[in-house]
Amino acid sequence: MSSLAVASAVVLCVVGAEKEAMKVEESVVGRTPEGDEVRAFTLANKNGLKAKLLNWGAIVSELHVPDNAGKIADVLLGFDDLDGWLKNPAYFGCATGRVANRIGGGKFTLEGKEYALATNNGPNHLHGGARGIDKRLWAAEVLKGDSPSVRFTYRSPDGEEGYPGNLDIAVTYALTDQNEIKIDYEAKSDRPTPVNLTNHMYFNLSGAGSGTILDHELELRAERYTPIDLTMIPTGEILGVKGTPLDFTKPARIGARIGALTGDPGGYDHNLCLDGQRGELALAGKLRDPKSGRVMEVHTTEPGIQFYSGNFLDGSIKGKGGKVYQKHFGLCLETQHYPDSVNQPHFPSTILRPDRTLRSTTVYKFTAE
Ligand code: GLA
Repeated sequence: MSSLAVASAVVLCVVGAEKEAMKVEESVVGRTPEGDEVRAFTLANKNGLKAKLLNWGAIVSELHVPDNAGKIADVLLGFDDLDGWLKNPAYFGCATGRVANRIGGGKFTLEGKEYALATNNGPNHLHGGARGIDKRLWAAEVLKGDSPSVRFTYRSPDGEEGYPGNLDIAVTYALTDQNEIKIDYEAKSDRPTPVNLTNHMYFNLSGAGSGTILDHELELRAERYTPIDLTMIPTGEILGVKGTPLDFTKPARIGARIGALTGDPGGYDHNLCLDGQRGELALAGKLRDPKSGRVMEVHTTEPGIQFYSGNFLDGSIKGKGGKVYQKHFGLCLETQHYPDSVNQPHFPSTILRPDRTLRSTTVYKFTAE
């Protein structure tokens, strides 16, 4: 098949009694500097929700969601052009790993051997290193099933970015008729290795580029958090959120207490420990935008969530529609194991052993009120 024919290929699958046609549309976006073809997959459900995915970085590049008047907006920060996505310095929408967030000093010891990883964030290792899984080309397969779904796979070879073991990763995105984007992660390694996978979507429920998220209200099922040092590495303590600006056990406006989190750049960039998490899919939090009425619930099997209020956005990124992303223009709710777990034996373990398959699920569900 010529690339043009592939570009216009539409996969249709018949769903349920209504014989609703669920579509995954595939197109060619361009090429990486190495000459590899970057493809986009557009998933739509019967309610007008639409998600666009890229085989570069297993990125969710667009997510179009109706508001309380049925008006659709793209709620994800991102780019209109491939060049933006190839550079993607702030990790918009990507699969993140092998180990998301930070590893203190870029070092860990596993089975008596010390590993030194890239220190790409001050003294620490961040989001899988100099070239993590967010800047790799993934294989893509459109799945048959009730919901439009695409499964991305990537083999991270032994030693890539300093990590041991050949690691096979699969990230599957599905868009359900319940207005959910469901992310299933799977990973298998031939040697023990730390793995912590997440997705780094930046949400603004009023629409990308429309202003800050400071008026969004957040509720998190998290009574505890992992305090961090000045380089943002957990101190090892697990403390209560009560009396701190991290207390979102009741819905609170993000801007209400953000000023108390001083420093450079200040703001929320913390891992919260989800209550009673035992590896089953459970409600982690709820984000509400009073302006549009859009509400997003986060459900996850993961024990933690990194709440990041877009503090490093500084107006240097020009995104979709030419809009400049200023500080706090988007926020991330990154479901994951706690940062630096590989160096903190009392945190839930991130070591994946060859006899196990890592499985993890996160669901972002949208409603409007
Ligand atoms: C995570 C980190 C932040 C920042 C962003 C990417 O959320 O915790 O400190 O590195 O990713 O800019």
